[in-house]
Amino acid sequence: MSGNSAYAERVENQAAAFHNAEAALIYPSGYTANLGLISCLSTRGTTLVMDELVHASLIDGARLGQSEKVRFRHNDVNDLESQLKKLNDQKVVIVESVYSMDGDICPLREVVEICQKNKAMIIVDEAHSMGIFGHHGSGLVQELGLEDKIMARIMTYGKAPGIHGAAVVGPEWLKDYQTNFSRSLIFSTAPAPHQFADISGMYSCLPKADKKRDQLKEIVRCFIRKRNKHEGEWLPSNSHIQSLIIPGNAEVVRVANKLMEAGINVLPIRRPSVPKGKERIRFCLHAYNTKEEIDLLFNVLKNFK
Ligand SMILES: Cc1ncc(COP(=O)(O)O)c(C=O)c1O
Repeated sequence: MSGNSAYAERVENQAAAFHNAEAALIYPSGYTANLGLISCLSTRGTTLVMDELVHASLIDGARLGQSEKVRFRHNDVNDLESQLKKLNDQKVVIVESVYSMDGDICPLREVVEICQKNKAMIIVDEAHSMGIFGHHGSGLVQELGLEDKIMARIMTYGKAPGIHGAAVVGPEWLKDYQTNFSRSLIFSTAPAPHQFADISGMYSCLPKADKKRDQLKEIVRCFIRKRNKHEGEWLPSNSHIQSLIIPGNAEVVRVANKLMEAGINVLPIRRPSVPKGKERIRFCLHAYNTKEEIDLLFNVLKNFK
């Protein structure tokens, strides 16, 4: 209600320039960004077409809106196309660039092609690619040069960047629209100046972290080489998020505790966060992990197979 600050605008312009977009609008968190964006776009006469594994914040945004909702099978572009073909409404497809629980990557080029053929707009949540994929960590959309094909990207800062907040980046009209209709933006206190300062500092630091990103890629390659020789049920991921299925809440907790005792910091993901039988240990790899740590991890895991 007290208007916008010149500093907030400067940081939003910095974010927009970094992400090669017309505009950026900063929210206090990724959750509030998704809630506000999806609910305000979710009007009667629009159908939201969502990957079945999208994050809870996107689902909650859809729940608050008035659109019809359709789910398509995870990363299945044929199913996406057949769902889109059934619809006459305005369509908005919602995907993530890297899925938080499975670690697999969206086939974004194919998704774009199908959406263009079927006149659907696209929203990409880049929470798990921000800071890691693309030039200077700008995200998967920029890595693939698809900026002008995507209506909105949500760049969330709580994962790789290690701070708070998120920006919705996209066209100027979308920023204007949200400032008028996004309820989580309008009816909540804006981020404090120190949060904008963190975000600005983070954008200045990202280009200096190319070496760290290379280190992370090397650690991921090393992990995958070991994973491919291990007999467990691994989900097919090429990213820094790797998941080992260990069915049963009690069993997955037992294995996670063993890993923790060996000094490996992991969390068991239990149902209902994931479906029954798909309980898992999720490994989030970091640039500072060493090959010795990966060896230790697979040595501990050997005892369970
Ligand atoms: C894909 C995805 N989107 C959005 C969020 C929410 O981000 P934040 O923690 O900044 O609210 C998360 C984090 O849990 C996430 O994994």
